[in-house]
Amino acid sequence: MPPQFDLKNPDLYQDEGCHRVFAHLRAHDPVYWNPEADGAGFWAVTRYDDVLAVSKNPELFSSARAQGGHRIFDELDVGDPSLDASMISMDPPEHAAYRRMVTPGFTPQRIAQMEARVRARVTEILDRIQGEREVEFIATVAAELPIQVLAELFGVPQEDRAKLFEWSNAVIGEDDPELRSSHAYIEACYKEMALYSLHLWQKRLQEPGDDLISMLAHAKVGGEPMSMQRYLSTFILLVVAGNETTRNSISGGVLALSQNAEQRRLLAQRPDLIANAVPEIVRYVSPVLHMRRTATADTELGGKTIRAGDKIVVWYASANRDESHFQDADRFDVTRGNASDQLGFGIGQHFCLGSRLAELQLRVMFEELLRRFPTLHAEGPVRRVRTNFLNSIKEMRVVLTPAASRAAA
Ligand code: HEM
Repeated sequence: MPPQFDLKNPDLYQDEGCHRVFAHLRAHDPVYWNPEADGAGFWAVTRYDDVLAVSKNPELFSSARAQGGHRIFDELDVGDPSLDASMISMDPPEHAAYRRMVTPGFTPQRIAQMEARVRARVTEILDRIQGEREVEFIATVAAELPIQVLAELFGVPQEDRAKLFEWSNAVIGEDDPELRSSHAYIEACYKEMALYSLHLWQKRLQEPGDDLISMLAHAKVGGEPMSMQRYLSTFILLVVAGNETTRNSISGGVLALSQNAEQRRLLAQRPDLIANAVPEIVRYVSPVLHMRRTATADTELGGKTIRAGDKIVVWYASANRDESHFQDADRFDVTRGNASDQLGFGIGQHFCLGSRLAELQLRVMFEELLRRFPTLHAEGPVRRVRTNFLNSIKEMRVVLTPAASRAAA
């Protein structure tokens, strides 16, 4: 018998209809058994408190590749090198050793020092569209900032960002025929990434800088450099994690402001609220829909008996709309008092390493965007990437009205 709901089906996330399914599950079957046509099935964890409990107990709910990894499918089944050998698919204590290697790149001081450069980048991106009435927002604005910042973190020329952008799309686009046209194409992308990142590794060994690649190239685990497989995997993790998610938050935030004109007006009048609007955007959008864990022992969750080896999928998109934690949870509210309780960056040992950097980019982007274009709205159909992993808009036209022309009108 087909499952009543199939949360694995990427078509469910092509619009905002998934939230009706999540609301139903939170109310009636919060730890829901989702059978799989091509797998053993998984437990879908949909309530805030349960997502928290699973994420904070890595001993019982493992991210390790050997157990199945952090993705909805078993990582051991995957032929390509992808993200599987990076910190995101590790448990303590191994996880901490790898996370530590790049942590210096994300300290609060270092992120604070980046603000002026992020603002200069945003200014340049928005200056380019000055005078235009309507733009394809993803390519012209939302994708540009994170990819430029990523090139800066890697210490690579800005001209390389088209490559980084394409590779990132190819990695996440496994269910989207527009992004992953063929197996040969994705293989070619992985090969290019391997060559590119290897070349960088060798360069940074000879001439170290203070970029993330230098940190990885010079790091030691148990006195040894990290393996090439782990390095490539970490490179891909950073390309995808530092890029797709921030882009999706920018575009999802603009869509939320378009759909809630009173919130947009409020933010345009009160830029001091933007710092609070940022976690509210991440809560409302949930750029990463879920992560996966595997039970290491028999246990109980939400009244269900979980067996060792069972797959558990924690749905941030659902936890972030849980009425028992967020009042009027489906409402986009930039003044929400507990917006920063949102779980869009995950929680526990894998809590997003780039969260402060993402928040900085979002704050500066919305400050500059609304100052120039206090009236903006999405026009026409919004096209999303076909994926069950990310809430990702790939095409969205946005009509912009500059502040001056509004005053003149
Ligand atoms: C709004 C933007 C972002 C969102 C929503 C987001 C979301 C997440 C989530 C949900 C996790 C947790 C994974 C888990 O528990 O298994 C995570 C981990 C991670 N993120 Fe982000 N992320 C964002 C931006 C970034 C940026 C800008 C970077 C780096 C440039 C980054 C780097 C990472 C890394 C390295 C990890 C793995 C951490 C670990 O395993 O210890 N993220 N992110």
